[in-house]
Amino acid sequence: MDSKKINLNHIAIIMDGNGRWAQDKGLERTQGHAAGELSLSRTIHWALENNIKWLTVYAFSTENWMRSSDEVEFLMFFNRDLLTRRRDEFNKLGVRFHFLGDLEDNKIPNENKVLMLETEKITSSNTELNLVFAFNYGSKTEIHSSVQKFIDANKVNVGIEFIESEFRNYMYIPNMPDPDLLIRTAGEQRLSNFLLYQLSYTELMFFETLWPEFGDKELNQAVEEFSKRKRTYGKA
Ligand code: IPE
Ligand code: IPE
Ligand code: MG
Repeated sequence: MDSKKINLNHIAIIMDGNGRWAQDKGLERTQGHAAGELSLSRTIHWALENNIKWLTVYAFSTENWMRSSDEVEFLMFFNRDLLTRRRDEFNKLGVRFHFLGDLEDNKIPNENKVLMLETEKITSSNTELNLVFAFNYGSKTEIHSSVQKFIDANKVNVGIEFIESEFRNYMYIPNMPDPDLLIRTAGEQRLSNFLLYQLSYTELMFFETLWPEFGDKELNQAVEEFSKRKRTYGKA
């Protein structure tokens, strides 16, 4: 697959279905999250092999705090454990980590914050793949906080054209290109507060496969389907 030829620069994924995967097997929901690590690692390797430059994965939403305290605690632990165990491996492969979300939120344990900042720093000169972890991410919060930052920085009556050209500079990752392809696993067909602004012209694809079973076969299928889609951006 030639990602440049088919203009596939950025893939975003809503990794859904970990809980159902575990429950179907009579396991705890948290074991589903643990099993999802393998799918994530497979997807990162696939992205590297296929010369995808940006991969954004939805790891924890601003709404996920509403889950049981046991599950939230596990997810916080799991995210830092995963980073600690695997960042060297991905660093060596040229992966640059970014974290997208309200990272200053008091609800996020301090150890997670330190680790995320450190990981961004350590990998900041890598160029093979930009891996964006959407963590404590909510699109509405992102837009509201960008508006606030925009107002604070400009304090003047600016025109709509200025807002159109400058607004992105106040979003969480200003230089992140919009996704070309969004994949959501596990059958749900909704965005769940993910990248509402950035997905305005993204191709959407939904898979029944639960995240822990998602792999190269589905990724290749998605690319094949993507290459057949005609993106007209409003033009006829
Ligand atoms: C997605 O799987 C992972 C996170 C939201 C962290 P879910 O935990 O939402 O799995 P289901 O949807 O309950 O099966
Ligand atoms: C979206 O999945 C969030 C992540 C994948 C991190 P959810 O499972 O939380 O979304 P809903 O509840 O189905 O909308
Ligand atoms: Mg879910």
